[in-house]
Amino acid sequence: MSSDDDITVRLVTPQEASLLIGLIWSCYGETYIDPSFYDETAVSELLASRRLHSIGAFTDAGQLVGHMGITLRPHGGITADAGMTLVDPRFRGRGIARRVAVGLAEQSMALGLVGVHDYPVTVHAATQRIGAGFGVDTGLMLANMPGDVVFQEMETPTPDSRTSSLIRWLPFGLAPERSVYLPERYREQIQALYAEAHLTRTVLPSDDHLGERQSQLESAYDERRQILRVAVMRGSSDLAAKVEAEIGGAVKRGGLVAQVDLPLADPATPVGTETLRAQGFSFAGLLPEYRDGDVLRMQWLADSVDDAAFSILSTDSTRAIEEFVLKDRGSKSG
Ligand SMILES: CC(C)(COP(=O)(O)OP(=O)(O)OC[C@H]1O[C@@H](n2cnc3c(N)ncnc32)[C@H](O)[C@@H]1OP(=O)(O)O)[C@@H](O)C(=O)NCCC(=O)NCCS
Repeated sequence: MSSDDDITVRLVTPQEASLLIGLIWSCYGETYIDPSFYDETAVSELLASRRLHSIGAFTDAGQLVGHMGITLRPHGGITADAGMTLVDPRFRGRGIARRVAVGLAEQSMALGLVGVHDYPVTVHAATQRIGAGFGVDTGLMLANMPGDVVFQEMETPTPDSRTSSLIRWLPFGLAPERSVYLPERYREQIQALYAEAHLTRTVLPSDDHLGERQSQLESAYDERRQILRVAVMRGSSDLAAKVEAEIGGAVKRGGLVAQVDLPLADPATPVGTETLRAQGFSFAGLLPEYRDGDVLRMQWLADSVDDAAFSILSTDSTRAIEEFVLKDRGSKSG
């Protein structure tokens, strides 16, 4: 990928899993958000399976000092999740994260991805600044990060409270043109995001009621994050009952947040969106090409969650999406 002064950017091999684990320790101690990343066999297997593509910054001595990851999704597709941005505290402020980000762009293109979704934290502004001006900020997931994640050697103003993460679309290729069904209340916002991202979308008239067949959902509960994630494959008249049952199950296990993805290729999504709003959901974000086309993410927070946690936002565009998300949350019963 690239080599400059004493730093070389290249892919991390499965045999180097222990180096990645060491870097996670130096950045997060024992508090990293995904506990499986402390297990060398699991990390090595993940790298060998090529579900995780790790882009590393190495010193001449072979020390891994910077990292970003591209995680392919189980259902495949033409986009993936970016993240795991890590720079050893002793090597920060030298532009290493930016150089790894260039490696991430190169690797994404080599994989044929038309873009990746990135989720910069808001406990500090560093990662937001790395992609600023290149990506499009399309959402904000409230209370997405537990308060006990410790960012070593970073100033974080709200220790112990859950914090929000942005959703950022980083385009690396030409996405297909698509037809979408947009909820009226979010139509203007979503179309503005499409325009900003140069995505060609035709808006079609949607169904005015949910069909009688059964909804199809895939759900997963993340214990560490205390977040329920639901992907709606098809929304039908039992959507509210099914989502309520999923939330009930998650709350019993300590769940505090639910994120539900609705496909914008489904003519029932606009009425499904209103169904979710009646259950206390509000707009989290637009994820272009996330799964069989674009996805609208809606979010729900338990009453005990303080959604007023302070976010550090670095640009006008991040502040604009926060404003939209908070306004929609404030009006969620309407
Ligand atoms: C975030 C992190 C990867 C930045 O690495 P880095 O190599 O020091 O970053 P760079 O030198 O390439 O700088 C990139 C941008 O971030 C900014 N930045 C770096 N550290 C920062 C900090 N502590 N606070 C605010 N901005 C910061 C830089 O100023 C630069 O932006 P600019 O060019 O607009 O000024 C590193 O601090 C880290 O590993 N932190 C802990 C883990 C983490 O928070 N990961 C991100 C999760 S989304």
